[in-house]
Amino acid sequence: MATVKLENIYKSFGETEVLFDINLEINDKEFVVFVGPSGCGKTTLLRIISGLEEVTSGSVVIDDKDVSNAPPVERGISMVFQSYALYPHLSVFENIAFPLRVAKVSEKELEEKVFKAADILQLRDRLDFKPGQLSGGQRQRVAIGRSIVRDPKVFLFDEPLSNLDAALRGDMRVELAKLHQNLKTTMIYVTHDQIEAMTMADKIVVLHDGVIEQVGSPMDLYHNPKTKFVAGFIGHPNMNFLKTSDTDIKQKKLSANIGDFTLDLAVDVSDIKAGDEVDIGIRPEDLVVSSNKGGAPMTVDVVEHIGATVILYGTVLGNSDFCAVLPSDSVVKPGDTVNLTLDPFKCHAFDSSGQALLKS
Ligand SMILES: Nc1ncnc2c1ncn2[C@@H]1O[C@H](COP(=O)(O)OP(=O)(O)OP(=O)(O)O)[C@@H](O)[C@H]1O
Ligand SMILES: [Mg+2]
Repeated sequence: MATVKLENIYKSFGETEVLFDINLEINDKEFVVFVGPSGCGKTTLLRIISGLEEVTSGSVVIDDKDVSNAPPVERGISMVFQSYALYPHLSVFENIAFPLRVAKVSEKELEEKVFKAADILQLRDRLDFKPGQLSGGQRQRVAIGRSIVRDPKVFLFDEPLSNLDAALRGDMRVELAKLHQNLKTTMIYVTHDQIEAMTMADKIVVLHDGVIEQVGSPMDLYHNPKTKFVAGFIGHPNMNFLKTSDTDIKQKKLSANIGDFTLDLAVDVSDIKAGDEVDIGIRPEDLVVSSNKGGAPMTVDVVEHIGATVILYGTVLGNSDFCAVLPSDSVVKPGDTVNLTLDPFKCHAFDSSGQALLKS
């Protein structure tokens, strides 16, 4: 079993402060994904957990033991990197066996462990190959095999799929999810790809500029983003935002006027007053085309047919870059105007500091 607790972690490199007051609990056997834009501190946090990087202050606790000052080998953790650095002159077998040779494990135990890892990763028929004879996905699996044979309490992955093409990334996502089901080990996975986070995680940790913006299950973050940043980061295509300062409070509801269009939203207005700037957010997949006049007109610039759905890009209420996802049988051409229903129950609202106004 392995739980990981991060307590009040701060990290600076010289003058540069990179992580601020990180607090997080990771449960045994959980698949946790750290997601966030480039430079937000994901790799630094992973390296702090592994022991490759020291904290400036705060603690890393694994299985109730404070390991903040323990070297990596004493933490029972194994890390798989983006660049998987296999030994080109060694066979797949020897690449996977490498950590066991270093640990001077008996030949019998070494063989058993390598074969078991190769079976899990479907590499049994590639054990005599050299890395140069493998596909990108197979090479990445060899790197994971090298981690598996060490029987770590916790696996750490730092963007392990980012060198692969889109189709292979999709396949490997499924394989990693299966690997987690087989091994039942705590896994922490870093990516800047929100689709990887949404599809693989039990729990997503959204990092932004060195702070944790929100922690939750994928669907919790999707339905209840606490900040505009999380709302815009999670979900694909991205959430649409409509800016308004022509706000009013009517019967404890927020009334947002965008041009001559009015949205009445049942959100907590206790910290809002008339005229405050508010961003209204709505997901492209939550828009529907309506035939009645009450909708918001969208002037369509681009139409993408991707099979199961049709994606429209255009301008709504003066906001360009607006996106709507419609059923595949929708007949719309560039230049058309469609009438979109903005369902108030599907809308999100954010104050001028980007905090979500909770639904009331
Ligand atoms: N050794 C270092 N010395 C100084 N600054 C560093 C060092 N390592 C990282 N940083 C800085 O810390 C910040 C966070 O870096 P980190 O590598 O953790 O980001 P990341 O979220 O993993 O980004 P990416 O998605 O691009 O990999 C960056 O601004 C980076 O420049
Ligand atoms: Mg990184």
